[in-house]
Amino acid sequence: MQKTAMPVYTGRMSHIDKLIADMTLAEKIGQMTMTASDYAVTGPVITPVSEDSIRAGVIGNMLNLYGAEHVQRIQKIAVEESRLHIPLLLGYDVIHGHRTVFPIPLAEAGMFDPAAWEATARAAAQEATADGLHLAFSPMLDVARDPRWGRIAEGPGEDPFLGAAIARAKVRGYQNLSLSDVGAIAACAKHYVGYGAVTAGREYASTDMSAGMLEEVYLPPFRAAVEAGVASVMPAFTDLNGVPMTANRALLRGTLRGDMGFDGVIVSDYNAIAELINHGVADDLAEAAALALKAGVDIDMMADAYRRGLPVALERGLASMADIDDAVRRVLVLKERLDLFADPYRRGRTPDTADALARRRALARDVAARALVLLKNRNNALPLGRGRLAVIGPLADAAGEMRGPWWGAGRPEDCVSVLTGLRQAGLDFRFAPGVQIEGADASHIAEAEALCDEVDAVLLCLGEAATMSGEAASRAHLGLPGVQQQLADAVLARAKGKPVIVLLFSGRPLVVPELAAGADALVAAWFPGSEAGNAIADVLTGRASPSGKTPISWPRAMGQIPVFFGQRPSGRPFNPNDHYTSHYSDVDNAPLFPFGHGLTYGAFEIASLRVTDEGATVDVANTGARAAQETLFLFTRQTRPGVTRPVLELKGFAKIALEPSARGTVTIPLPASTGPRTVFVGPSADPARLLSLAL
Ligand code: BGC
Repeated sequence: MQKTAMPVYTGRMSHIDKLIADMTLAEKIGQMTMTASDYAVTGPVITPVSEDSIRAGVIGNMLNLYGAEHVQRIQKIAVEESRLHIPLLLGYDVIHGHRTVFPIPLAEAGMFDPAAWEATARAAAQEATADGLHLAFSPMLDVARDPRWGRIAEGPGEDPFLGAAIARAKVRGYQNLSLSDVGAIAACAKHYVGYGAVTAGREYASTDMSAGMLEEVYLPPFRAAVEAGVASVMPAFTDLNGVPMTANRALLRGTLRGDMGFDGVIVSDYNAIAELINHGVADDLAEAAALALKAGVDIDMMADAYRRGLPVALERGLASMADIDDAVRRVLVLKERLDLFADPYRRGRTPDTADALARRRALARDVAARALVLLKNRNNALPLGRGRLAVIGPLADAAGEMRGPWWGAGRPEDCVSVLTGLRQAGLDFRFAPGVQIEGADASHIAEAEALCDEVDAVLLCLGEAATMSGEAASRAHLGLPGVQQQLADAVLARAKGKPVIVLLFSGRPLVVPELAAGADALVAAWFPGSEAGNAIADVLTGRASPSGKTPISWPRAMGQIPVFFGQRPSGRPFNPNDHYTSHYSDVDNAPLFPFGHGLTYGAFEIASLRVTDEGATVDVANTGARAAQETLFLFTRQTRPGVTRPVLELKGFAKIALEPSARGTVTIPLPASTGPRTVFVGPSADPARLLSLAL
């Protein structure tokens, strides 16, 4: 049959096919291998053995190698000294910024702002490509409902609709209009799929779920990423219903490549192919390599399983050369799409400018302020009035912690601590840390507490250390670490009537009902990134008006976990007058703060929900004394679906900014549906605050 493809496409394929035809088995497997460079204080270091391997064409991809000069030097070995001159593909964990660190992904999720999500990814791509990188191992799209799991910090929170919206924005931001743009970086949707559902929130544990749960909750963000053209996907470390994702042919070749039409590169997680032996599905590296290849994994990250195992697997008849060629082709096509063959040195050639850096810092400040969530504000304790402040707690003078658990190339010395931010805002304050983040030393609480006598208001800076969330950071107790609660109790008792404002830093919702009850104002600061202190000062002083919303429910007790708004109905919904209904005998069913909760400096009233062809519309008024921005959510409940549906399903969100006493309307498009349903609109998933309309 006559080929009808565009000439340029035919050209590309023939170039790649010719390369594949010329390659030895070792060179092919080299393109399916990704190894790391080490990182020394002075920059990346790469062993002479690895340099020789690049020269020999048996390492085609690397991670953790960045910095224009280092990259150009190593790339030169691949391009000029290897037999086939194939450029290296360089990946790195650009998770929430590269050199400029933006708020952790969970915090950004709470902005409910696709333009901002896209802008931070674009800025990260610019910095990462200026550092010579081609592939960002993000966005992390694991829906998670269990805050014991530390990686909840890296993801979109509890809701699939939100996760899908983030996926689209992040892929656009990283990849720009075309991967061949010099400032575009290939994105990697990870970790496919179900990792957020690890048993009991314990890192790397097994996952098990119904087909319906997988389809409705865990797959949608990945489907959205594929629709947006994501260049690569990383399978999860975990097994799903007994099949490790790295060897999950049904979900990788079937669902991802087949049903979703994903034709990019599947890159394993770190050492995950070798770990198939621990999962108990392979006896040796040859079997592990064969299983991963059959499932569709193109690149082996760090297990050396393809290099050591595939030749043996071929001999044993466990793997086919056709599968190897397909994997190599996908890797080479990605390099081609990134324009690496035409000009392997282009990323990293143009140095970053001071202007561009200043723009990214301004973006980081703006975004960090908008990602803070004002959980409580009794008697308008915030914004701060005039007067002197006592700043107390171990997170106030902790610039490096502000980066959160995955800081990319961000340096602690480039981060603004709370103290520095307050100082730069001209605030009059006294400071005492009182205690350390962890540990049992309570001997300095008394001197910290004494500061309360000299001031008009108290700012308590409490929470987790950055590395207490993130990978391999599951926790079974989600209260304040160390003796911080003791410090908080002492300060709350001593402050007697003076407003106590708590800034809570964490990579997850903490379980702090007493602290929330005692504080006058409570701000979930998460980890705000490079501009933390400035953004916090902006919000505390009222220069910026808070608008963040929590993308995850905050439990009031550990025993409620998992608590999330999208639960399915019970046949015996809770009724306080009927004992035999769904409830705990020792704690409320409701979370302490529901999904979507977040106060502003305004006061919003919504009324008159109606549905038209354009969607669900409500009238909104700001009856408060300050300009503010409110986010409204659209939920539905399918009322006679045949199988049960969650009591609330998020279907949209929209924002409105109003001056004091101003009014407006908000319309949120309503997706089509068959069958009757109830539509809800409100400022959070708290049923008491939702307007509803049965359709
Ligand atoms: C993580 C991935 C990450 C990879 C490379 C793994 O431990 O699970 O998310 O991209 O390391 O650093």
